[in-house]
Amino acid sequence: MQNIQNFISENKTRFISELFSLLKIPSVSADPAFKKDVFDMADAIKIQLETIGFSDVEICSTAGYPVVYAQKIINSSLPTILVYGHYDVQPATPLDLWISPPFEPELREEKIYARGACDDKGQVFMHLKALEFMISNNSLPCNVKIMIEGEEEVGSDNLPIFVRNNKEKLKADIILISDTAIIDNEIPSIDCGLRGLSYVEVEVTGPGRDLHSGVYGGAVANPINILCDMISKMHDENRQITIPHFYDDVQDLTQAERQLLANAPFDLENYKKDLHISEILGEKGFSTTERASIRPTLDVNGIWGGYIGEGAKTVLPSKASAKISMRLVPNQDSKTITNLFQSYFESISPPSVKVIVKPHHGGEAYVTPIDSIGYKAAEKAMELTFGKKPVPTRGGGSIPIVALFEKELGVKSILMGFGLDTDAIHSPNEHYGVFNLLKGIETIPYFYKFYTEMSK
Ligand code: BES
Ligand code: MN
Ligand code: MN
Repeated sequence: MQNIQNFISENKTRFISELFSLLKIPSVSADPAFKKDVFDMADAIKIQLETIGFSDVEICSTAGYPVVYAQKIINSSLPTILVYGHYDVQPATPLDLWISPPFEPELREEKIYARGACDDKGQVFMHLKALEFMISNNSLPCNVKIMIEGEEEVGSDNLPIFVRNNKEKLKADIILISDTAIIDNEIPSIDCGLRGLSYVEVEVTGPGRDLHSGVYGGAVANPINILCDMISKMHDENRQITIPHFYDDVQDLTQAERQLLANAPFDLENYKKDLHISEILGEKGFSTTERASIRPTLDVNGIWGGYIGEGAKTVLPSKASAKISMRLVPNQDSKTITNLFQSYFESISPPSVKVIVKPHHGGEAYVTPIDSIGYKAAEKAMELTFGKKPVPTRGGGSIPIVALFEKELGVKSILMGFGLDTDAIHSPNEHYGVFNLLKGIETIPYFYKFYTEMSK
């Protein structure tokens, strides 16, 4: 595929400006204030697909944001690749920490800065341009279906129904997803697993109204103090989660699997430097790589209550709340874990307060076997374009639909992502390297080629 290089160098400027136009649309799925923008984003993806040569692009409505779908069936006896991605993004707050505004994309030092630059607009865009290449020069070697959804960042609540109702439409041999990261631009890698998720919100109520913290403080339970006590009881001195039966279903890795993970290069000093921390912290007995990929976790994502305005107000608040996520590993069931959390949280609440646990979304963990042809095709494609064999890794994040695709469609997913952990996804100043963008466009057509060849 000699001319993929030419295609990229000739069109690089156009690619960046097209991606900029997608990044300008603030498609924040979590915040209803952006509702129109999320719908506009679906239209923008549709137009992109039409421009690169897909006819009959569909905007499939759901109870929430739509799924954009298109397909090109060149020969039903050839394999079919289903490309999945998401066009929605995380909220961009806190806005004041952005060097350039999140929805006014900017190129600095060969990196594109914008919300969604990496997660996942930039990575979806690589597929669009790789398909543009294959369609324009008639080198698409197999059938392709593409579905880009708009609710991934809020748990894909409406996607299970969509998948169940469209099994025939989504029928494929393999699913290809770019929504993960590589270890480093010099160290390509492929995530062959994702964590599951259980997300809950808790509310602790003490007195029926806010009180004077001098008049009542010391005599009445302060819900913030209590919430902190309860949260601190969720881990023991080894940083293991204390919820009874939390680890019951965890499938421990074999020594060989742990060894494979340990082989993936990891630079602790750079890791700490990047995060501005002087020491790491995690579950005893596991490496940093393991803690962030194949071990379950419990983290408070947000906590509020009482007075947080300017200056000081002496108040003993009536309520305190927190949002808590638990990352899960293969064989743990998100609903079971949510129930275990709820029982435990209620059991450790003192009689001086009332607690409410509100479950949010969940999703199951996922693994791709590295001896599958899908993995091997991705490995070969990356080896060719990076000049190095990619290292198999396990991603710590979650893409809940991946386990569901397997359950409902019986199809495995290949997580051929091109981001970097340092791209600041979900953070201020999210960015995506031009190198990564172009490397993705270059690699994807090889995946199609090798996957088709290996399927014969
Ligand atoms: N692309 C990420 C998931 C990811 C990132 C996987 C890096 C592996 C490595 C995805 O957009 C994401 O953020 N997912 C959410 C899922 C949730 C909202 C249900 C997550 O992991 O928090
Ligand atoms: Mn993503
Ligand atoms: Mn994300």
